[in-house]
Amino acid sequence: MRLSGKSALITGAARGIGLEFAKAYIAEGAKVAIADINLPTAEAAASTIGATALPLDVTDQRSIDACVLGAEAALGGIDILINNAALFEADEIVDITRASYDKLFAVNVGGTLFMMQAVARSMIARGKGGKIINMASQAGRRGEALVGVYCATKAAVISLTQSAGLNLIRHGINVNAIAPGVVDGDHWDGVDAHFARLEGLAPGEKKRQVGATVPFGRMGTAADLTGMAIFLATSEADYIVAQTYNVDGGNWMS
Ligand SMILES: NC(=O)c1ccc[n+]([C@@H]2O[C@H](COP(=O)([O-])OP(=O)(O)OC[C@H]3O[C@@H](n4cnc5c(N)ncnc54)[C@H](O)[C@@H]3O)[C@@H](O)[C@H]2O)c1
Repeated sequence: MRLSGKSALITGAARGIGLEFAKAYIAEGAKVAIADINLPTAEAAASTIGATALPLDVTDQRSIDACVLGAEAALGGIDILINNAALFEADEIVDITRASYDKLFAVNVGGTLFMMQAVARSMIARGKGGKIINMASQAGRRGEALVGVYCATKAAVISLTQSAGLNLIRHGINVNAIAPGVVDGDHWDGVDAHFARLEGLAPGEKKRQVGATVPFGRMGTAADLTGMAIFLATSEADYIVAQTYNVDGGNWMS
């Protein structure tokens, strides 16, 4: 029960990694609100695991403000924020559209920044410090030929984690990030479909390829990430500031 007495708001947690974090946090004694643009799925998940579901579009400031107020009311204050909501798209550089660029930057970068801002204001007003964990990616460590925009958004998440970490630690708010590698689930089904289209691969082939190259020997699971997400939310991580941790089976070293 390492998170007993703590409250967490997790964005994009209707499914996938965010939902697994919510389950792991509840198992460690935390109260959890899962906020997602897909409210029906979030509500169904929340009722199964004993969390609160909140509507959230991280690209809309009014939605962010309402979500933070809703989380404060439901949880009695926010100790932990996980910025997990994100979108993925892939294309040749010559085919990237402004619409795709605007959408991915609005969700992955703007969503991360303005959720951090809103929750940091709440944490500062409460005066108890807090923990903010941003979901970066190995994609933020280097570019990829077909993944230009998503990689750039995740590099921006790593950079924002550094700046916010340095800026907010004087309030007792630790900002750090997790950089997963390739994690199987709905998200990667979508990634696989993009590569099937762009590289003429059979469905499932890209997953097989990326899984085979992970030093650990397989793709990750959402459960592989929960240990780091719990650790970064505990007082054991109080002296860790502005860092991004790779949890990727050995794909990237930095
Ligand atoms: N799965 C991977 O291999 C992998 C690898 C590296 C990093 N990541 C990162 O981990 C995080 C979680 O990934 P996942 O695999 O669970 O993804 P996912 O696509 O399964 O889940 C993302 C969630 O975000 C929600 N969302 C999308 N737009 C939103 C918006 N505007 N406002 C609020 N919610 C919104 C979706 O409804 C969905 O529930 C993401 O930040 C992702 O970039 C994933």
